[in-house]
Amino acid sequence: MSLLTLRVNGATHEADVDPATPLLYVLRNDLGLRGPRFGCGLAQCGTCTVLVDGAAIRSCVVPAAQISGEITTLEGLAKNGELDPLQQAWIDEQVPQCGYCHNGQIMNARALLDRNPNPTDAEIRQGMEGALCRCMTYYRVQAAIKRVVREAQARAEASAE
Ligand code: FES
Ligand code: FES
Repeated sequence: MSLLTLRVNGATHEADVDPATPLLYVLRNDLGLRGPRFGCGLAQCGTCTVLVDGAAIRSCVVPAAQISGEITTLEGLAKNGELDPLQQAWIDEQVPQCGYCHNGQIMNARALLDRNPNPTDAEIRQGMEGALCRCMTYYRVQAAIKRVVREAQARAEASAE
């Protein structure tokens, strides 16, 4: 066992774990963060996705001891009591069915929009292709992402007037 220090959602945490422990287990079991979920455990489905310095990673296969950057989980997206626009759009578009995959869908979408705030439909499909959904909510996922893009553009146009 060794004492790891992790920066998660703006706070510093310590966890006494085997250094090979996947980040997902530390987040869920040691820090009590239930946004990231265990699905395949093989970097195939995406439901365990978290951001490290803004980039989406599969936390089920990355040892926690290898992480040195700022980790953001689903719990860390809301700021000052306001949902991330993606979380709000997920509600507005009624995206989830069983809901199991949607940690990964939202975190992957956040990484996508942070690197490309105005993606085309093809870029959304490509950027989201690793986030699997057994309930086939892909069309609603795409609609929610496009809603966020549209609303951001409308706000930018309104503030430019
Ligand atoms: S649980 Fe990590 S990719 Fe499936
Ligand atoms: S909503 Fe059920 S797996 Fe995606």
